[in-house]
Amino acid sequence: MDKFVITGGTALQGEIPTNGSKNSALPALAAALLTEEPVILHRIPHVRDIRTMQRLLIDIGSNAEVDGETVRLETARVVCPEAPYELVKTMRASSLVLGPLVARCGRARVSLPGGCAIGARPINLHIFGLEQLGARINQTHGYIEAEAPDGLRGAVVHFDRITVTGTEDLMMAAVLAKGETVLRNAACEPEVVDLAGLLVSMGAQIEGAGTSTIRIQGVERLRGAEHTIIPDRIEAGTFLIAGAITGGDLSVTGCNPEHLGALVSKLQQAGVDVTQQDATTLRVRGGGRIRSVDMTTEEYPGFATDLQAQYMALMTQAEGIAIVMETIFENRFMHAQELARMGANIRLEGRQAIIAGPRELTGAGVIASDLRASASLVLGALVARGETVIDRVYHIDRGYEKIEAKLARVGAKIRRVD
Ligand code: EPU
Repeated sequence: MDKFVITGGTALQGEIPTNGSKNSALPALAAALLTEEPVILHRIPHVRDIRTMQRLLIDIGSNAEVDGETVRLETARVVCPEAPYELVKTMRASSLVLGPLVARCGRARVSLPGGCAIGARPINLHIFGLEQLGARINQTHGYIEAEAPDGLRGAVVHFDRITVTGTEDLMMAAVLAKGETVLRNAACEPEVVDLAGLLVSMGAQIEGAGTSTIRIQGVERLRGAEHTIIPDRIEAGTFLIAGAITGGDLSVTGCNPEHLGALVSKLQQAGVDVTQQDATTLRVRGGGRIRSVDMTTEEYPGFATDLQAQYMALMTQAEGIAIVMETIFENRFMHAQELARMGANIRLEGRQAIIAGPRELTGAGVIASDLRASASLVLGALVARGETVIDRVYHIDRGYEKIEAKLARVGAKIRRVD
């Protein structure tokens, strides 16, 4: 199992590029199941979750060709409309094939995901939505079996709570349903908007993506399309925090500053200098005093839960007390104990973490527990005195492409060891 060995204390300097968004690429790949024609996707990041999704699509019947950051998928025929436990347990986003498969071939069999390090993460809302569209659902032997032999029909689906992949799954189911579907209390995340853009270029009729009400008029069939995935706002945000925490001068290129508004505002309130250099570059200059600023995670355009762990690492270096409240997932504080092992002063009280700073962090052996928690440990290690060894970095490989190479290029002392 790979580890990262990081020696902290270097201010990061220079330009660091952003990849395409993992969480946008995953539903886009699943959307290729909706047509027998080729779907060509550009700016697909080379991360483990994407490889898992490609493997799943190939098992289902897609032909996949990868050329650099471009993936061409063609699903002339669905051979096996199934997502097995072996894949779903390693990547919960596998449930994104449920909607497209029922829409395309009237049936799907998808493993229930089970628990996860950051929370229970059920898919009851995906199931509820498909039922509203007329699918019959049967739950047996740990699998969801969905059937709609005569096709899905449009309906109003009011989500009890906002779900990102649930909104995406239902949008993909509804594009081929008969009549109109209205998704209410839908997720407004940029990844939902990106997926809607792809589906529209495949011939779907969708209005309102990016707002809480999405209207979809079903069409008979979809065609192939070519689409470029949006920049990864969580990767870009992680790099902005890396610049801030190390007191560096880092330009994060190839990002979409509009998608990073909540983080940039928090960084500025904390006294970090963040400026937009051009349409796709944000420059962060640290080095001054960092102030503690409370933060609560929210759905977009609020502060992303996927940046909470990284923000907590920054707050260990801030003056005063910061209260970080996690409202999206019930168990997303696994990094707190590991940061504490490095010297952070963090108290957990239910969904709140109370961080008293600044505290000098010192290198230690720590364990990555999930994708974003691992990123926060890398950030802590970059500012810690001495050497940190982060174990189980396969978690970080799920969502960050060659993070050690990117950080090393801007001065970080980081290496991967087997
Ligand atoms: N929820 C339910 N029932 C459902 C679906 C969700 O109760 O059927 C609950 C969840 O348990 C959670 C909340 O609703 O408490 C929000 O979950 P959501 O469904 O929005 O999460 P997701 O779609 O499974 C995506 C991202 C996550 C990101 C969340 C929240 C992808 C592939 N994953 O997950 O990304 O944290 O939205 O923004 O898009 C990551 O990249 O590290 C990651 C975990």
